[in-house]
Amino acid sequence: MIESFGNFKRDKYCGEVSLEDIDRELNLCGWVHRVRNHGGVVFIDLRDREGIVQVVAEESSNPTAYEKADRVKPEWVVGIRGKVRRRPEGTENPKLKTGYVEVVAEDIRVFNTSEVPPFPVEEETNVSEELKLKYRYIDLRRFSMMENMLFRHKFYQLTRRFFEEEGFVEIETPFLTKSTPEGARDFIVPSRLHPGKFYALPQSPQLFKQILMVSGFDRYFQVVKCFRDEDLRADRQPEFTQIDYEMSFVNEDDVIGVAERLVAHLFKELLGVELSTPFERLPYGEVMERFGSDKPDRRFGLELIELSDIFKNTEFKVFKGVLDKGGIIKAINFKGSNLSRKEIDDLTRFVQKLGAKGLAWIKVEAGKLVSPIVKFFSEEETENLLERVKAEEGDVIFFSADSKEMVYKVLGALRLELAKSHGLIDESRWDVLWVVDFPLMEWDEEEGRFVSLHHPFTAPREEDIPKLKEALKTDDIEERKRLVHSVRARAYDLVINGEEVGGGSIRIHTTDLQEVVFKLLDIGEVEAQEKFGFLLEALRFGAPPHGGLAFGLDRLVALMRGLDSIRDVIAFPKTQKGICMLTSAPDYVTPKQLKEVHIKVSE
Ligand code: AMO
Ligand code: AMP
Repeated sequence: MIESFGNFKRDKYCGEVSLEDIDRELNLCGWVHRVRNHGGVVFIDLRDREGIVQVVAEESSNPTAYEKADRVKPEWVVGIRGKVRRRPEGTENPKLKTGYVEVVAEDIRVFNTSEVPPFPVEEETNVSEELKLKYRYIDLRRFSMMENMLFRHKFYQLTRRFFEEEGFVEIETPFLTKSTPEGARDFIVPSRLHPGKFYALPQSPQLFKQILMVSGFDRYFQVVKCFRDEDLRADRQPEFTQIDYEMSFVNEDDVIGVAERLVAHLFKELLGVELSTPFERLPYGEVMERFGSDKPDRRFGLELIELSDIFKNTEFKVFKGVLDKGGIIKAINFKGSNLSRKEIDDLTRFVQKLGAKGLAWIKVEAGKLVSPIVKFFSEEETENLLERVKAEEGDVIFFSADSKEMVYKVLGALRLELAKSHGLIDESRWDVLWVVDFPLMEWDEEEGRFVSLHHPFTAPREEDIPKLKEALKTDDIEERKRLVHSVRARAYDLVINGEEVGGGSIRIHTTDLQEVVFKLLDIGEVEAQEKFGFLLEALRFGAPPHGGLAFGLDRLVALMRGLDSIRDVIAFPKTQKGICMLTSAPDYVTPKQLKEVHIKVSE
């Protein structure tokens, strides 16, 4: 039944057959998308990368072609020779690019058959993502998936051309390398030639791109895979792609300028959307206070309202306890929502899962305050509170009292949850902003040391450098925290619709300052030497001032395509558990392979 492909020469893609081809004889190749026999006439929808065209085989005019057409099944691979004609009036399909024409089959050749696919190649299929990923080659035949990949392809090409035009040089950096500190766990690769030693896959090309600046390349870029062993989510994969760049003799505005020109260019070329530049810049402190998040989605309101001052002398135990411990009280007013008791209870459970101790609330109903806590407030507190949150009939006000970090976490998440579940997000808007003025370091309670908000090579603001030096001199840990927390980083994150799509910084380019920062991060001399000795050394040989940025390409593409998961824009992604369903990696290897790399697996 399978016929030779021989020298069957294709004339064009199925999806490109148009009115201009009327009366032409064409050779087409593709997959049988659908077959219907209407008694004496068989219709085949023939599909390829560019679309679908309708093929007609008529018993009366060509019995051989008709019989063959009648035998083909979905996903068989066929070649068709036929004449293009206009579809009879009333049978046009304006939804299809090829909807005004059809191809009358003269000859049909079966190049391959197909087993019944595990799910039909249709947009709406009710099958699990795991099954789709196992048969990814079939899933990728769906037009939406194919379009995602073609969009991503255009995205790469525009990006490469953009950087070429801006004078950047594309340079590859190694995958088998040493650990890079982007804050996640490394994937490691055992060395056969060096028993007991390991390469680490790069979490980013950070150190190499800085070293390329020391070499004098001036402007580097790369579209590059990065590897991070972290807990996965919809917007996180263990291997993902960055658009990475680095520049010499620049300040923040130069690096940001390149990013803005690139993003505006991509939006215009790929979506026809004009983003206005420069993008807004908001300080980290402000976005945290207003949105409880360093990647705020500003397409809806529900901003956090500060209440600590109103309750500074409160008798209400919960609030008093928190304030005494240096915590804060903030609220969100979900205006006119009239939430039911059950909805409020569900939300309480939602925040408890995040670690909140509770979710106090007030509902303004029939001119009264319904609430488990108002009875503990003084008249003055209640009055000030209602005025501050602008309470009106139907409003539900939620309170969080806790450490600053917990209040931001809880109300930041609650804000998003309310917006998503109540359809408050204006999907027609692109909310683009830079978050700037991050603190250089924050105190990590668990580890009992300072950690970098970005990475340890991020430069502090010049005017803040004396504070860092002073901090090193004091042994009083509270004083040290005070000084260090007031040091701002020369870092910037790009946030679009509440997603962090890129981030970067001006770097430290002198050994002195790098050493001060390592010391404050409690990275000892030996450790620093072991981990980043090569960078520290490079900085001693004429490192220019430099800075850069990296975009999360998968996130940006998914966002532009309106998709919730980056898995939909990656050809062969991994599941939430880090499994490649297609190949079933990770997998066991043979004892011989293990022996060669000097590894014994413990139970
Ligand atoms: P950063 O760690 O912020 O910076 O990474 C840059 C961007 O990469 C994306 N991203 C991810 N996307 C998918 N899956 C992941 N697991 C994942 N992790 C990060 C995000 C993020 O904004 N070397 C620095 C950049 C620099 O300073 O120049 C870096 O890697 O969109
Ligand atoms: P309790 O006195 O523990 O019953 O708490 C009274 C109300 O305050 C309940 O509605 C709790 O959900 C709420 N609550 C308790 N702890 C907090 C907190 N840290 N922040 C906000 N609300 C809280």
